Amino acid sequence: MSDTGGAHKRVAILISGSGSNMVTLVKSMTGDHPARPCLVLSNVPDAGGLRKARDLGVPTAVVDHRNFKGDRAGFEAALNTVLESAQPDIICLAGFMRILSETFTAKWSGRCLNIHPSLLPKYKGLHTHQRAIDAGDAEGGCSVHEVTAELDGGPILGQAHVPIQPGDSADTLAARVLVQEHLLYPAVLHRFASGDITPVRLP
Ligand code: GAR
Repeated sequence: MSDTGGAHKRVAILISGSGSNMVTLVKSMTGDHPARPCLVLSNVPDAGGLRKARDLGVPTAVVDHRNFKGDRAGFEAALNTVLESAQPDIICLAGFMRILSETFTAKWSGRCLNIHPSLLPKYKGLHTHQRAIDAGDAEGGCSVHEVTAELDGGPILGQAHVPIQPGDSADTLAARVLVQEHLLYPAVLHRFASGDITPVRLP
């Protein structure tokens, strides 16, 4: 499903885990979609998403962060070497669980997106669903945003809202939010790859 032609925007997707968002992104890039996947890159050698990417015909690569203990610059230089050889126009972080430095985010500024499981600017960082439940919020959700040096802080390109139900646990809420992530991220990527940064709002 990858593409080497010049007509489409090239999309590299960075993952650390199961890659369910990556799969929905890859599957969305067909037909008259303005982009095609060029690479799935993981920092975790046995990330489940790598096999899914290979099954979808997308080239894969691994840069194991454990080989760069205490050397974030070295890790990011290795990421950049792999990314530069794939020549992406757009990078999608999809469950990529490493914090990226200002050097990296500046290099890819305006070309790098991330999906985060909260209604930003609420609940940057981890444990987003539990924090929303503990706060008594009426809704949770997810956001796609441009990646900047501020963690989970760049301009918001789309959000999906998910009501919190009585008795919800972090897991039950996460499962319903993930369904919306799979709708939101492809919708934002399609719009972004078309040159339109008007925020998407779901549902
Ligand atoms: C998704 O819920 C994504 O929003 C979250 O990790 C999960 C990855 O699932 N990302 C973050 O928490 C980033 N801070 P996936 O591997 O099945 O797409």
